[in-house]
Amino acid sequence: MSGRDNDFVVVANRLPVDLNTAPDGTRTWSASPGGLVAALSPVLRTQQGCWVGWPGVPDAAPDPFYTDDGILLHPVRLNQADYEGFYEGFSNATLWPLYHDLIVPPVYNLDWWYAYREVNLRFADEVAEVAAEGATVWVQDYQLQLLPGILRQKRPDLTIGFFLHIPFPSADLYSQLPWRDELVRGLLGADVIGFHLESNARNFLDLARRLELPVSGEVSTRKITAHIETPDGRSVGVGAFPISIEVDEFTDFDDAALAGVDKLRADLGTPKHVILGVDRLDYTKGILQRLLAFEELLETGALDPAEVTLVQIATPSRERIEHYKKTRSQVEEAVGRINGSFSQLGKPVVHYQHRSIDKKVLRLLYRLADIMLVTPFKDGMNLVAKEYAACHDDAKGALVLSEFAGAADELPEANLCNPFDIESVKRSLLTAIKGLEDQPEVMAERMRIMHEQVMTHDVKLWSRAFLDSLKEAKRK
Ligand code: ADP
Ligand code: F6P
Repeated sequence: MSGRDNDFVVVANRLPVDLNTAPDGTRTWSASPGGLVAALSPVLRTQQGCWVGWPGVPDAAPDPFYTDDGILLHPVRLNQADYEGFYEGFSNATLWPLYHDLIVPPVYNLDWWYAYREVNLRFADEVAEVAAEGATVWVQDYQLQLLPGILRQKRPDLTIGFFLHIPFPSADLYSQLPWRDELVRGLLGADVIGFHLESNARNFLDLARRLELPVSGEVSTRKITAHIETPDGRSVGVGAFPISIEVDEFTDFDDAALAGVDKLRADLGTPKHVILGVDRLDYTKGILQRLLAFEELLETGALDPAEVTLVQIATPSRERIEHYKKTRSQVEEAVGRINGSFSQLGKPVVHYQHRSIDKKVLRLLYRLADIMLVTPFKDGMNLVAKEYAACHDDAKGALVLSEFAGAADELPEANLCNPFDIESVKRSLLTAIKGLEDQPEVMAERMRIMHEQVMTHDVKLWSRAFLDSLKEAKRK
């Protein structure tokens, strides 16, 4: 079905849907986790392109097929060894911790590097098979950093963009990587390389200078004003393109939706303050630290367990990797301990769900939450913060947001905190609660500004800015 006739191809490690196979062999698809999929799905619906990616389970590669929205999905097969070496190993136990500023120590393993190279080569074969002559190919994220370089060799007719969905570390940290030169060469196969923040893009330019590549111009946001000259005489544009959300999914609360919000509050026992956390269960997200802050506030009496409820929704993620297992058990132990100490019968003070929930329910929870806790140690952007602000055209609620989330650049009206400092998390949470009680107009004005910022800087703006820059780079 997917011949070499697609003018616009997105390639990401994951397809927007994961394959599930029931014991009787029946196959179904469910939405796959993470911000990349949340952001790119609406873009693909508009552009009607082809999406090349892995179906989320090893040893499966169903035939290409069209989604109901008219997106052509082209599955790539990863076998068990690829899954372990490329996905769990190099992508998520080497690059992920390195790019998130060493929250846990990265593991450097030569076999994983070989697996990463091999899988990038395989993705290149698949893309070369589906991309039309002169097509635009948009490569996504840290799992596929070699792909632009391989594609450039294989298909010089293509226009190639690359976007990194996670932070890019300082040149000092990055230089730990034994295969640092190869990855940079891979990235420089692109015509444009995009990062969330100007600081990420500047880190990349610093690295290029260290490698004695000529760099010109300064980084800007949503346009390309900085370039790196490659040894083969090409010019690669580098810029910041802060990702965002499809705002329509999080607005328009009609009477039925508002009744759903009221019902949820009643289901939770009508607490005075509902505090919410929504994350993949990842050690970068600071879920344990926010629970510990909440626990200490209950212990000291600063928060009354009869008045507050914390709802933590945690999507299962990368469950076989050691640090993810450890984080899950620490989080679940803390939830049990806090409930054991402070809940009344039938009225838990922490509601914890370790699963994905439907977007329609998620948006009701966002609307319901008086305080949203987004406390990552490091995060490329964090779409949850933006989704919460989008849900509050009512100007209600407060966002406690880590200084180390990319979203903090765009949402300085949030109650910012330093998640490495538990006192800071406690302070921000209490200040938010107190602000809502004592200075509702001030908090409402802050929420109005955040809501407006998200509504006017949505995912369409992100994709348009990136793809226009790519077109412009190619024209030049
Ligand atoms: P990341 O890409 O690291 O997972 P983001 O905050 O940028 O982090 O994006 C997470 C996305 O996944 C958001 O769109 C959010 O709505 C969604 N999400 C997170 N947790 C859940 C959950 N438990 N159920 C459903 N969607 C979730
Ligand atoms: O943006 C970070 C990211 O790794 C994305 O590539 C992905 O959509 C998301 O987090 C979820 O990760 P995984 O695909 O490993 O479940």
